[in-house]
Amino acid sequence: MQAKDSSSRYGILSMLFHWSIATLFLVQFYLIKRRPYLPEDAPERGLYMLLHKSIGVTLLPIALAFLIWRLKNLRPRLPGHIKPHEIFLARTSHTLLYAIMLIMPISGYLMSTFFGGTTSFFGLFNLPMLVGQNEAASAFFSSMHTIGANCFIGLAIFHIAAALKHHFVGKNDILRRMLPAYNPSPLEGEKE
Ligand code: HEM
Ligand code: HEM
Repeated sequence: MQAKDSSSRYGILSMLFHWSIATLFLVQFYLIKRRPYLPEDAPERGLYMLLHKSIGVTLLPIALAFLIWRLKNLRPRLPGHIKPHEIFLARTSHTLLYAIMLIMPISGYLMSTFFGGTTSFFGLFNLPMLVGQNEAASAFFSSMHTIGANCFIGLAIFHIAAALKHHFVGKNDILRRMLPAYNPSPLEGEKE
Protein backbone atom coordinates (compact mmCIF):
# COMPACT_ATOMS: atom_id res chain seq x y z
CA MET A 1 0.00 0.00 0.00
CA GLN A 2 1.22 3.50 -0.78
CA ALA A 3 2.63 5.83 1.89
CA LYS A 4 0.89 8.92 0.56
CA ASP A 5 -2.82 9.68 0.68
CA SER A 6 -4.77 9.70 -2.57
CA SER A 7 -8.02 11.46 -3.49
CA SER A 8 -10.00 8.38 -2.45
CA ARG A 9 -8.16 6.92 0.56
CA TYR A 10 -5.64 7.50 3.36
CA GLY A 11 -2.10 6.16 2.83
CA ILE A 12 -0.24 4.02 5.35
CA LEU A 13 1.56 6.97 6.97
CA SER A 14 -1.65 8.90 7.75
CA MET A 15 -3.19 5.70 9.12
CA LEU A 16 -0.15 5.05 11.32
CA PHE A 17 -0.30 8.61 12.64
CA HIS A 18 -4.08 8.51 13.17
CA TRP A 19 -4.30 5.15 14.93
CA SER A 20 -1.19 5.60 17.07
CA ILE A 21 -2.41 9.03 18.23
CA ALA A 22 -5.90 7.60 18.96
CA THR A 23 -4.35 4.71 20.97
CA LEU A 24 -1.98 6.97 22.90
CA PHE A 25 -4.87 9.32 23.82
CA LEU A 26 -6.75 6.33 25.21
CA VAL A 27 -3.66 5.26 27.21
CA GLN A 28 -3.31 8.83 28.55
CA PHE A 29 -6.87 8.80 29.89
CA TYR A 30 -6.45 5.32 31.33
CA LEU A 31 -3.25 6.26 33.20
CA ILE A 32 -4.59 9.47 34.70
CA LYS A 33 -8.08 8.18 35.58
CA ARG A 34 -6.84 4.83 37.01
CA ARG A 35 -4.10 6.46 39.12
CA PRO A 36 -6.29 7.81 41.98
CA TYR A 37 -7.70 4.29 42.57
CA LEU A 38 -4.23 2.86 43.30
CA PRO A 39 -3.28 2.55 47.00
CA GLU A 40 -1.71 5.76 48.43
CA ASP A 41 1.70 4.10 48.88
CA ALA A 42 1.71 2.06 45.64
CA PRO A 43 4.92 2.62 43.62
CA GLU A 44 2.78 2.45 40.45
CA ARG A 45 1.39 5.91 41.28
CA GLY A 46 4.71 7.53 40.38
CA LEU A 47 5.10 5.26 37.37
CA TYR A 48 1.62 6.14 36.05
CA MET A 49 2.42 9.87 36.28
CA LEU A 50 5.87 9.40 34.70
CA LEU A 51 4.26 7.50 31.81
CA HIS A 52 1.44 10.08 31.49
CA LYS A 53 3.96 12.92 31.21
CA SER A 54 6.39 11.01 28.93
CA ILE A 55 3.71 9.79 26.52
CA GLY A 56 2.11 13.26 26.69
CA VAL A 57 5.23 15.09 25.56
CA THR A 58 5.91 12.40 22.91
CA LEU A 59 2.46 13.11 21.46
CA LEU A 60 3.43 16.70 20.59
CA PRO A 61 5.99 15.90 17.81
CA ILE A 62 3.77 13.04 16.55
CA ALA A 63 0.73 15.36 16.31
CA LEU A 64 2.81 18.09 14.64
CA ALA A 65 4.20 15.58 12.14
CA PHE A 66 0.65 14.33 11.36
CA LEU A 67 -0.56 17.90 10.87
CA ILE A 68 2.35 18.84 8.57
CA TRP A 69 1.97 15.57 6.62
CA ARG A 70 -1.75 16.22 6.15
CA LEU A 71 -1.20 19.83 5.05
CA LYS A 72 1.45 18.80 2.49
CA ASN A 73 -0.61 15.90 1.10
CA LEU A 74 -3.55 15.62 -1.21
CA ARG A 75 -6.64 15.30 1.06
CA PRO A 76 -8.88 12.28 0.47
CA ARG A 77 -12.08 13.74 -0.99
CA LEU A 78 -15.51 13.19 0.45
CA PRO A 79 -17.99 11.29 -1.76
CA GLY A 80 -20.37 13.54 -3.73
CA HIS A 81 -23.48 12.51 -1.77
CA ILE A 82 -22.11 13.91 1.52
CA LYS A 83 -24.23 16.95 2.44
CA PRO A 84 -22.62 20.42 2.82
CA HIS A 85 -23.46 20.59 6.56
CA GLU A 86 -21.73 17.22 7.07
CA ILE A 87 -18.63 18.49 5.24
CA PHE A 88 -18.66 21.54 7.51
CA LEU A 89 -19.00 19.38 10.65
CA ALA A 90 -16.23 17.02 9.50
CA ARG A 91 -13.83 19.89 8.75
CA THR A 92 -14.61 21.74 11.98
CA SER A 93 -14.32 18.65 14.19
CA HIS A 94 -11.05 17.56 12.53
CA THR A 95 -9.60 21.07 12.99
CA LEU A 96 -10.62 21.05 16.66
CA LEU A 97 -9.09 17.57 17.14
CA TYR A 98 -5.79 18.83 15.69
CA ALA A 99 -5.97 21.82 18.07
CA ILE A 100 -6.57 19.53 21.09
CA MET A 101 -3.68 17.28 20.02
CA LEU A 102 -1.39 20.31 20.40
CA ILE A 103 -3.10 21.96 23.41
CA MET A 104 -3.00 18.87 25.67
CA PRO A 105 0.79 18.22 25.61
CA ILE A 106 1.66 21.93 25.77
CA SER A 107 -0.75 22.76 28.63
CA GLY A 108 0.35 19.60 30.51
CA TYR A 109 4.03 20.49 30.26
CA LEU A 110 3.44 24.16 31.20
CA MET A 111 1.11 23.28 34.12
CA SER A 112 3.74 20.91 35.57
CA THR A 113 6.74 23.17 34.93
CA PHE A 114 5.10 26.37 36.27
CA PHE A 115 4.20 24.27 39.34
CA GLY A 116 7.92 23.51 39.75
CA GLY A 117 7.69 19.82 38.80
CA THR A 118 10.14 18.09 36.50
CA THR A 119 9.10 16.13 33.42
CA SER A 120 11.15 12.98 33.07
CA PHE A 121 11.22 11.35 29.64
CA PHE A 122 10.58 7.66 30.42
CA GLY A 123 13.14 7.92 33.25
CA LEU A 124 15.96 8.52 30.74
CA PHE A 125 16.49 12.27 31.26
CA ASN A 126 14.58 15.33 32.45
CA LEU A 127 13.17 17.77 29.92
CA PRO A 128 14.48 21.34 30.26
CA MET A 129 12.42 23.57 32.57
CA LEU A 130 11.58 26.31 30.07
CA VAL A 131 9.67 28.45 32.63
CA GLY A 132 10.15 29.31 36.30
CA GLN A 133 7.79 28.56 39.19
CA ASN A 134 4.51 30.52 39.00
CA GLU A 135 1.41 29.32 40.85
CA ALA A 136 -1.11 31.44 38.92
CA ALA A 137 0.28 30.37 35.54
CA SER A 138 0.25 26.73 36.67
CA ALA A 139 -3.43 27.05 37.72
CA PHE A 140 -4.25 28.65 34.33
CA PHE A 141 -2.68 25.81 32.32
CA SER A 142 -4.19 23.24 34.69
CA SER A 143 -7.68 24.61 33.83
CA MET A 144 -6.73 24.55 30.15
CA HIS A 145 -5.64 20.90 30.52
CA THR A 146 -8.92 19.92 32.23
CA ILE A 147 -11.15 21.89 29.83
CA GLY A 148 -9.16 20.48 26.88
CA ALA A 149 -9.66 16.94 28.22
CA ASN A 150 -13.42 17.48 28.57
CA CYS A 151 -13.72 19.03 25.10
CA PHE A 152 -11.74 16.08 23.74
CA ILE A 153 -14.24 13.59 25.25
CA GLY A 154 -17.16 15.40 23.54
CA LEU A 155 -15.34 15.66 20.22
CA ALA A 156 -14.14 12.05 20.31
CA ILE A 157 -17.68 10.78 20.97
CA PHE A 158 -18.96 12.86 18.04
CA HIS A 159 -16.05 11.76 15.81
CA ILE A 160 -16.47 8.04 16.55
CA ALA A 161 -20.28 8.24 16.27
CA ALA A 162 -19.93 9.97 12.88
CA ALA A 163 -17.49 7.28 11.64
CA LEU A 164 -19.88 4.51 12.78
CA LYS A 165 -22.92 6.29 11.30
CA HIS A 166 -21.17 6.56 7.91
CA HIS A 167 -20.28 2.87 8.05
CA PHE A 168 -23.51 1.32 9.35
CA VAL A 169 -26.22 3.82 8.33
CA GLY A 170 -24.78 5.62 5.31
CA LYS A 171 -23.01 2.39 4.22
CA ASN A 172 -20.20 4.40 2.58
CA ASP A 173 -16.38 3.96 2.65
CA ILE A 174 -15.46 6.80 5.04
CA LEU A 175 -14.42 4.44 7.88
CA ARG A 176 -12.94 1.80 5.55
CA ARG A 177 -10.59 4.28 3.89
CA MET A 178 -8.88 4.89 7.25
CA LEU A 179 -8.22 1.11 7.47
CA PRO A 180 -5.48 -0.86 5.65
CA ALA A 181 -7.59 -3.54 3.90
CA TYR A 182 -9.50 -1.31 1.52
CA ASN A 183 -9.60 -1.21 -2.28
CA PRO A 184 -11.34 1.98 -3.32
CA SER A 185 -13.79 2.08 -6.19
CA PRO A 186 -13.76 5.38 -8.15
CA LEU A 187 -15.72 8.10 -6.34
CA GLU A 188 -18.77 9.55 -8.07
CA GLY A 189 -18.93 13.35 -8.17
CA GLU A 190 -16.13 13.84 -5.61
CA LYS A 191 -16.34 16.88 -3.34
CA GLU A 192 -13.86 18.91 -1.22
C1 HEM B 1 -2.05 14.41 24.71
C2 HEM B 1 -1.50 14.51 25.89
C3 HEM B 1 -2.24 14.50 27.18
C4 HEM B 1 -3.52 14.09 27.48
C5 HEM B 1 -4.57 13.50 26.55
C6 HEM B 1 -3.72 14.31 28.89
C7 HEM B 1 -4.88 14.03 29.59
C8 HEM B 1 -5.10 14.35 30.91
C9 HEM B 1 -6.33 14.18 31.62
C10 HEM B 1 -7.62 13.63 31.01
C11 HEM B 1 -6.15 14.60 32.89
C12 HEM B 1 -7.20 14.63 34.00
C13 HEM B 1 -7.78 16.05 34.00
C14 HEM B 1 -8.78 16.25 35.09
O1 HEM B 1 -9.58 15.33 35.35
O2 HEM B 1 -8.77 17.35 35.67
C15 HEM B 1 -4.78 15.00 33.02
C16 HEM B 1 -4.20 15.45 34.19
C17 HEM B 1 -2.87 15.75 34.33
N1 HEM B 1 -1.93 15.74 33.32
FE1 HEM B 1 -2.24 15.30 31.39
N2 HEM B 1 -2.56 14.83 29.42
C18 HEM B 1 -1.63 14.95 28.42
C19 HEM B 1 -0.34 15.44 28.50
C20 HEM B 1 0.27 15.78 29.69
C21 HEM B 1 1.65 16.22 29.82
C22 HEM B 1 2.62 16.41 28.64
C23 HEM B 1 1.88 16.45 31.15
C24 HEM B 1 3.13 16.93 31.83
C25 HEM B 1 4.32 16.97 31.30
C26 HEM B 1 0.64 16.15 31.86
C27 HEM B 1 0.49 16.26 33.22
C28 HEM B 1 -0.71 16.09 33.89
C29 HEM B 1 -0.88 16.32 35.32
C30 HEM B 1 0.21 16.74 36.30
C31 HEM B 1 -2.23 16.10 35.59
C32 HEM B 1 -2.94 16.26 36.93
C33 HEM B 1 -2.99 14.94 37.63
C34 HEM B 1 -3.67 15.04 38.98
O3 HEM B 1 -4.45 15.98 39.18
O4 HEM B 1 -3.41 14.14 39.76
N3 HEM B 1 -0.31 15.75 30.95
N4 HEM B 1 -4.16 14.84 31.80
C1 HEM C 1 -12.12 4.57 17.61
C2 HEM C 1 -11.76 5.83 17.42
C3 HEM C 1 -11.70 6.53 16.10
C4 HEM C 1 -12.29 6.24 14.89
C5 HEM C 1 -13.22 5.08 14.57
C6 HEM C 1 -11.86 7.25 13.94
C7 HEM C 1 -12.19 7.29 12.63
C8 HEM C 1 -11.76 8.22 11.71
C9 HEM C 1 -12.04 8.19 10.29
C10 HEM C 1 -12.89 7.13 9.59
C11 HEM C 1 -11.45 9.28 9.73
C12 HEM C 1 -11.46 9.65 8.25
C13 HEM C 1 -12.52 10.67 7.96
C14 HEM C 1 -12.55 10.98 6.49
O1 HEM C 1 -12.34 10.09 5.69
O2 HEM C 1 -12.81 12.12 6.13
C15 HEM C 1 -10.78 10.00 10.78
C16 HEM C 1 -10.07 11.16 10.59
C17 HEM C 1 -9.49 11.87 11.62
N1 HEM C 1 -9.42 11.49 12.93
FE1 HEM C 1 -10.21 9.83 13.76
N2 HEM C 1 -11.04 8.15 14.60
C18 HEM C 1 -10.93 7.74 15.91
C19 HEM C 1 -10.21 8.37 16.88
C20 HEM C 1 -9.57 9.59 16.74
C21 HEM C 1 -8.91 10.31 17.81
C22 HEM C 1 -8.83 9.82 19.26
C23 HEM C 1 -8.42 11.45 17.27
C24 HEM C 1 -7.64 12.56 17.91
C25 HEM C 1 -6.86 12.43 18.93
C26 HEM C 1 -8.76 11.46 15.85
C27 HEM C 1 -8.44 12.46 14.97
C28 HEM C 1 -8.74 12.47 13.63
C29 HEM C 1 -8.39 13.54 12.71
C30 HEM C 1 -7.65 14.82 13.07
C31 HEM C 1 -8.86 13.16 11.46
C32 HEM C 1 -8.74 13.96 10.17
C33 HEM C 1 -7.58 13.50 9.36
C34 HEM C 1 -7.43 14.40 8.16
O3 HEM C 1 -6.77 15.44 8.32
O4 HEM C 1 -7.95 14.06 7.10
N3 HEM C 1 -9.46 10.31 15.58
N4 HEM C 1 -10.98 9.33 11.97
